[in-house]
Amino acid sequence: MMPKSPAAMTKKEFERFSSFIYGKVGIKLPPAKKTMLEARLQKRLKVLGMETFEAYSNFIFSEEGQRLELIHLIDVVTTNKTDFFREPSHFDYLTKTALPTIIKNRSDYLSQPVRIWSAGCSSGEEPYTMAMILSEFAADNQQFRFTILASDISTRILDTAKTGVYPEDRVDVVAPIYKKKYLLRSKDRSRSLVRICPQLRSLITFRRINFMDADLGVAEKMDVIFCRNVVIYFDKETQQELMQKFYDQLRPGGYLFLGHSETINGLDVDFKAVASTVYRKS
Ligand SMILES: C[S@@+](CC[C@H](N)C(=O)[O-])C[C@H]1O[C@@H](n2cnc3c(N)ncnc32)[C@H](O)[C@@H]1O
Repeated sequence: MMPKSPAAMTKKEFERFSSFIYGKVGIKLPPAKKTMLEARLQKRLKVLGMETFEAYSNFIFSEEGQRLELIHLIDVVTTNKTDFFREPSHFDYLTKTALPTIIKNRSDYLSQPVRIWSAGCSSGEEPYTMAMILSEFAADNQQFRFTILASDISTRILDTAKTGVYPEDRVDVVAPIYKKKYLLRSKDRSRSLVRICPQLRSLITFRRINFMDADLGVAEKMDVIFCRNVVIYFDKETQQELMQKFYDQLRPGGYLFLGHSETINGLDVDFKAVASTVYRKS
């Protein structure tokens, strides 16, 4: 018997999926991405035992589909690439300039912790890097207290982040002194895994937050927001709305860090550029 050829996606189906994805995630898929989306969704069709994209489309638009399948569709279209100590100049700026300025200027510094948010944290490398850096900063600055919020739209990637277990080669970039303090080696040496120590994990609150939601549901005002390598996938309109949300979420004088290839140039938001891809609320 001839093996069945995989389902083909029509142009109309692609348009329907891409406008649905844009509405839900903020990511615009141009027509050139049809082959990519088709190939990735064929895997979902296989898992679900569906033979056509029409069947998949009916499912994803149903209430049950939104409940059960939307998380998989989000995983299909988002990019989770990340690293420990990624774009390290940002962490230098954080400890050498941003935190000392915040400490100096905040009148309620002793009663309120400094609040930092890793927005779009992927599998956790960014917030764990922050936790190491801030723990070191706290050791040198006796009254410094902090909280870290880490969020992502993908529940699957958030589960990885919360678990805090990584292949050993992922932590090659972590300085030996930090490795010794904050990472635990797997007892089973054949598995080459490392685990973030419980004390460091306990410093981070992980939450699912979708930037497309009108209300991000974060009650506390932040001192620092890292949203790096996320908005590059959004169009200008979505970027504008998100930057305004971050602006409103920051305290006066708070800092926003974007990825090295991202910018707020061309957007109407009242941030002042203070370093390369670092912005401050006036
Ligand atoms: C490339 S990773 C960046 C991780 C980390 N910030 C870094 O720079 O290494 C982008 C993350 O943004 C998340 N993301 C994409 N769209 C989102 C949305 N609408 N709301 C919240 N997170 C989103 C993805 O799930 C992904 O984990």
